[in-house]
Amino acid sequence: MSLTNKTVLVTGASRGFGLAIAKAMLTAEATVIGWGRDAKALGDAQQTLEAIGGSFTLDVVDVTDESVVAERIAALPRLDVLINNAGIARCRPLFDTPTQELRNILDVNVIGAFNVMREAARLMVKLGAGGLMINIASDAAVRGIGNMAPYCASKHALLGLGRSVAQELRNTGVRITTFCPGGIATNILGPGGEDNPHAMDPDELAASVVQIAELSARIEVQEFLVLPMSV
Ligand SMILES: NC(=O)c1ccc[n+]([C@@H]2O[C@H](COP(=O)([O-])OP(=O)(O)OC[C@H]3O[C@@H](n4cnc5c(N)ncnc54)[C@H](OP(=O)(O)O)[C@@H]3O)[C@@H](O)[C@H]2O)c1
Repeated sequence: MSLTNKTVLVTGASRGFGLAIAKAMLTAEATVIGWGRDAKALGDAQQTLEAIGGSFTLDVVDVTDESVVAERIAALPRLDVLINNAGIARCRPLFDTPTQELRNILDVNVIGAFNVMREAARLMVKLGAGGLMINIASDAAVRGIGNMAPYCASKHALLGLGRSVAQELRNTGVRITTFCPGGIATNILGPGGEDNPHAMDPDELAASVVQIAELSARIEVQEFLVLPMSV
């Protein structure tokens, strides 16, 4: 399908992979709605997206805020594609990891993603035009990574949510893709990540997300594992 006149919601659009996806969606002529928590980062993203042109709005929305997520999505006149991208990660050994860190990661990567997925699905089913939800998981959804147990647990959970909700929505025309990339050159683990030569370029990878969104509504990419060639 062409993305012209399609509305795409991208969570975590203020930087990193989410911003790259928002840029690629705008270039593909979609109307983009982007969310993030940090107004200053969204202001910087605004300038980046203005340089591309097209139709977009950026809003401060924390995906863990269930009622705000529900209110914002219910107010949308249409929603064709959700990119459920907002996420956090930490890297440290098990013995140094407080339980609260697991809670924090699950809160954003699982509960936040669940809030957005449920409300986006509710609107898509109500509008009756089908839709596509792409959950940005990770290769950590399908393997373990030392020093990242809470993050891996959260991405395994997101894969499980996607697999289950896909079955439930099968007859509504709403499709779900769990997108599982390996390392992307962003600062998710701190400064310097954007310069990692072994990680994938976010803009190159964002093109794959757009390609999935452009597929026919009769095709569902259920799980998409994509890894850098450099490791
Ligand atoms: N980088 C990698 O190597 C890699 C690999 C595989 C998968 N991923 C996944 O890709 C996604 C994007 O990661 P990234 O590397 O682009 O990270 P990033 O550069 O740190 O960006 C994360 C984005 O999520 C937003 N965010 C975080 N918590 C949020 C919340 N509660 N509500 C709304 N927005 C929130 C951040 O904005 P605010 O902080 O302003 O809210 C930011 O826009 C994540 O789901 C991550 O797990 C990343």
